[in-house]
Amino acid sequence: MHLSRRGLLYGSAGAAAVSLAGCGAGEESASLTGFTGISMPTDTSERWVIEGKALESNLKGLGYDVIHQNAKDVVEDQIAQIQSMVDEGVEFLVIAAIDNTSLGQVLADAKDKGVTVIAYDRLILETPDVDFYASFDNYQVGVLQATHIIDRLGMRDNPGPFNIELFSGDLGDNNSQYFFMGGLDTLESFIYEGKVLIPSGQTEQEPTATAGWSGDAAQTRMSDLLGEFYDDDETELHAVLSPYDGISRGVVAALVDADYEPGTGGFPVVTGQDAEAASVKAIKDGTGQTETVFKDTRQLAHTVTGMVKAIVDGGDPEVNDLGTYDNGFKFVPSLLLEPVDVTADNYKEVIVDSEYLTEEQIDAGEA
Ligand code: BGC
Repeated sequence: MHLSRRGLLYGSAGAAAVSLAGCGAGEESASLTGFTGISMPTDTSERWVIEGKALESNLKGLGYDVIHQNAKDVVEDQIAQIQSMVDEGVEFLVIAAIDNTSLGQVLADAKDKGVTVIAYDRLILETPDVDFYASFDNYQVGVLQATHIIDRLGMRDNPGPFNIELFSGDLGDNNSQYFFMGGLDTLESFIYEGKVLIPSGQTEQEPTATAGWSGDAAQTRMSDLLGEFYDDDETELHAVLSPYDGISRGVVAALVDADYEPGTGGFPVVTGQDAEAASVKAIKDGTGQTETVFKDTRQLAHTVTGMVKAIVDGGDPEVNDLGTYDNGFKFVPSLLLEPVDVTADNYKEVIVDSEYLTEEQIDAGEA
């Protein structure tokens, strides 16, 4: 694990920039044109498609050339795409990795050619050749999800016990452990007290993991858990800690199959992440999950564009954390933004008023 159990070093995103004097990024600026390769991991989740386009248009808006590719969940394709970007002569790589330990060799080649490497949202591990990391406070994502469960079930004032099951993300994604640990740490005291029970006994990252962040895989696991541990009249499920909206919708489908009725008091509390339109619709209508964590990915794309521009202009990118994200070689200088908890009470203000999604997109369940 690369995670320090306690939170992060900084106060709020956008707070005082930490100077990176001596990183040398600016030294080569005279000859830089901003030519950037963007490598996105999947097109099955809305955010990566939207952000790929946003990054491309931001960078092109500055007059920089861009190669933008999406590797559609195939690790070998991502490596090949990045290699061809390096061969084309990009000066910057902005990469959201499918598998965080698969890029060492291609990044070594990129580094030999002087490319600046920015890990986009997902930290790239086990290589010295990552220069910067831009993401959200991933530990806090899990804290928000677990806090929603605690509040919604009234756990502080109610003796319980509450039956909860845990889901985590893909094991090849470094973020998964942060989401999971943030959630588990927040539930920990209730677990020790005996207020929270986890009938499956699956409390480690590995058995709770969801390969490829797949909703179908989550649905299968949830159905299996219901069949094995809740198949009597007494054991009721009260909540599911789910790290991502696609997983949450799979979980909800399994619950509906097992005759839990959405919108009723007996339907388990289900969390999520990413404010995908279909999930915000369920939150708004009360037909499934009750929470998502919104990460304003427009802000992330903007931040990364600013990092590239700062280097092209001969300066240092702004970062706000130097001591949390250890990639196995070093603490990668990071810029972390704040995630926001979204429920039926504030979706309008957070999601619609900020123009992330329109009410029409939410009602259609599609962005
Ligand atoms: C991202 C999440 C996303 C997940 C699945 C993670 O790396 O941080 O926002 O839900 O990947 O795409």
